[in-house]
Amino acid sequence: MVREIRIYPDEVLKKKAETVTDFNEEIRQIVNDMFETMYKRGGVGLAANQVGILKRIVIIDLHSGKENQGKEQIVLINPEIVTLEGEEIKEEGCLSLPGLYKKVKRAAYAKVKAQNLDGEEFTIEGEGLLARAFQHEIDHLNGIVFIDRLSPLQKRLALEKYKKLKRNYERKMAVKK
Ligand code: NI
Repeated sequence: MVREIRIYPDEVLKKKAETVTDFNEEIRQIVNDMFETMYKRGGVGLAANQVGILKRIVIIDLHSGKENQGKEQIVLINPEIVTLEGEEIKEEGCLSLPGLYKKVKRAAYAKVKAQNLDGEEFTIEGEGLLARAFQHEIDHLNGIVFIDRLSPLQKRLALEKYKKLKRNYERKMAVKK
């Protein structure tokens, strides 16, 4: 089921998500819905907050929208950053801030510890876009969106631009309904 994406400044995007303790069918359903929603809306990562669910669940698929979509799905339950290294400034966007893209400084390498759908622990590492996705999505679980990572001035400018983008987006969504 495709779920509604919560749009900034929705309060749920500013809240800390809760640890998943029961690895049950409900969690699997949420993960399936999150993939369906992300593929429909064209992102490479999604955190549960973004569909209004305050649970520590992140999904990532760097091939979203491409030929091999779905072949390398990453599901991170209760993810935690273990190591960050290096630095990289790249443009970033978010399905919860439609149309806004800003350069954000992130670590170039990230190692993450998480649990899978069966509750088993594993570690995963990534560079570049994958490292960026880990950091961006785990931020969501802590109530942080990417513009919070900008300097106060850059954030103010981004918000001004976003106001207009949001109006256009809402108009477009209203026409669709
Ligand atoms: Ni995002």
